[in-house]
Amino acid sequence: MLNQVEELASKAFDELGKVADLNELEAWRIRYLGRKGSLTQILRSLASLSPDERRVVGAQANDVKKALEAALTEKKETLEQDLTPSLQHASLDLTLPGQQVTLGRLHPTTQILNEICDIFISMGFQVVEGPEVEWEYYNFEALNMPKDHPARDMFATLWIDSETEAGDRPMLLRTHTSPVQIRVMEKTRPPIRIIAPGRVYRYEATDATHEWMFCQVEGLAVDKNITLADLKGTLFEFARRLFGEDRKIRFRCDYFPFVEPGVEVAIDCLVCRGAGCRLCGNSGWIEILGAGMVHPEVLRRVNIDPEIYSGFAFGMGVERIPILRYGIDDIRLFYSNDLRFLRQF
Ligand code: PHE
Repeated sequence: MLNQVEELASKAFDELGKVADLNELEAWRIRYLGRKGSLTQILRSLASLSPDERRVVGAQANDVKKALEAALTEKKETLEQDLTPSLQHASLDLTLPGQQVTLGRLHPTTQILNEICDIFISMGFQVVEGPEVEWEYYNFEALNMPKDHPARDMFATLWIDSETEAGDRPMLLRTHTSPVQIRVMEKTRPPIRIIAPGRVYRYEATDATHEWMFCQVEGLAVDKNITLADLKGTLFEFARRLFGEDRKIRFRCDYFPFVEPGVEVAIDCLVCRGAGCRLCGNSGWIEILGAGMVHPEVLRRVNIDPEIYSGFAFGMGVERIPILRYGIDDIRLFYSNDLRFLRQF
């Protein structure tokens, strides 16, 4: 009988060593320690032995039982911590290629704005920003366009219903970035050299060449002895850095109420280089911005003496530039969020 118990113990430990998962472990438990398990049966059969035998065999069988139970608990803990079996059964293929992480990118307008800002920063200009919801005063009045001035027609305006405590101070969505000139000159004394990038709004039906929202970059320099030659030099340098070294540039008279004289600036056509083609409407030139010498009336309003100081200002449409550069035929593509378009930049 003692031999039988010993044999059983060594067999049980042997088998336990080979148990590889929790299911096998449970089968093992039932085989030895279950209600009909081999060890349980030995313990039951003790009753048929003589008292002396029973004492010896009973003690041994009980020791074996305790040892097996302890081994069972320990094995169970190891198996529960071991992930290998569940990984073997899971459908995980470590040789598969990973999922590609798609990289975001900057919007084409942002890219070109950064480029423009970098050029002017390198020439000593500072970048400032102004509000998109603006007082009529800054957008028109202070820019030498009093109420009923015909030049206001140049700017189809989105007005905002505003009943303010200050009384009747109309608000609008700024139609250009020029109000930032006024905000800067109110707060700073010359020398001033700033550019102001940002969104502007026009009350306009959209089509391939018109959007109701687009971006401009405003430029302003005020100091003693600033002349039209400084404006020309600055814009010439800018055009060459943005569009290439051999760029030609053309200045022609134009009218804006807040500059005198006012000019319209064009570069020679990027496609035909001046010969005339569809892009430039056969003129050989492409207008890129409006500019001029800050009107003395504008300076006076912000308490800068036009007898001592003078300045130049310019304002350019930003989307124009990628449109020309990449031959984009519809401005609406910029803000309709079609990823097939945006991913190309
Ligand atoms: N603000 C003008 C426009 O939107 C452009 C401009 C800016 C012209 C500065 C002259 C000087 O059309």
